[in-house]
Amino acid sequence: MSVEQITDDGKVKILRLNHKSGAVCEIYTYGATVTKFKNAAGKDLIWLSTTAKLDGTKAIRGGIPLVFPQFGQPIKEMAQHGFARNNTWGYDKESDITSDDEVGVTLFLDQTMATHEAWPFPYRLEFQVFITSNGSLRTSLFVKNTGAEAFKFQCLQHTYLNVGDISKTSVNGLQYQRYLDKTSADTSVLNTEDRAAVDFKLFTDRVYLNVSSPSEGKGIQVSTGDGTIQVEGRALWKDGNQIPSDTVVWNPWEEKAKGMGDFDDDGYLKMLCIEPGLVADFHLLPPGGQVSLVQSLSA
Ligand code: BG6
Repeated sequence: MSVEQITDDGKVKILRLNHKSGAVCEIYTYGATVTKFKNAAGKDLIWLSTTAKLDGTKAIRGGIPLVFPQFGQPIKEMAQHGFARNNTWGYDKESDITSDDEVGVTLFLDQTMATHEAWPFPYRLEFQVFITSNGSLRTSLFVKNTGAEAFKFQCLQHTYLNVGDISKTSVNGLQYQRYLDKTSADTSVLNTEDRAAVDFKLFTDRVYLNVSSPSEGKGIQVSTGDGTIQVEGRALWKDGNQIPSDTVVWNPWEEKAKGMGDFDDDGYLKMLCIEPGLVADFHLLPPGGQVSLVQSLSA
């Protein structure tokens, strides 16, 4: 069990978690972006575009970029998906955790490291990345209000799953959930998912509302040609109370994939984004408040 630092010019660029099971995870300090998670069976669960920019000039295309303080661009002056994914996060080796069966790191970002005049609030983000005792990847994003006034925010873990072959992929766990369809003419219409197994044959960009409900023990199962990836997302207040959270499902499909310079032309055939978040609305965080958004991935 170890945490390795892969350095470049003396600056930490990549952290690598090595778990005794053989599972491996890599995290760029740029955006605190997880770019790789290979489980004990040697299966790569995360998709990363071969044309992704990994030099800190652009948010990483693939992996698990972090979206904060806005999802999309409700605040027009600020870049789409906010500023957390394209700034370098802090990392302190002393916060590493290596126990008998877990290995993990914590990265952090605050307003002295990244901010925007359209959202000028003191805050602290922490992102904990763990390979757990059962060999799954647990990523927890903590949003803290360190200022004197409440702020509104959205956040999300923009997880790109490596599904191998989209034509053999379907998602279970969304039936009867309400969703907004961002590909439709009126994106405010509330639809209901009627399929038990959601498959993908075209551009898909949906926000399923209030999907995760740990009390009901629900998760999302992504069936691929060679197995199942389990995705669980949930959000909690500091006091442990649960907040209903959302799940975005996105595949840009052929034309839009080709339109992105950092997205492999045929990448849409191999990936699917399943993104747990607090995005359907802005959430209000009082001074001293904290919210966590936790994702577990296993196969
Ligand atoms: C998804 C959004 O989460 O991210 C899509 O629902 C968006 O609308 C996609 O296109 C990718 O965004 P970006 O900024 O990384 O190209």
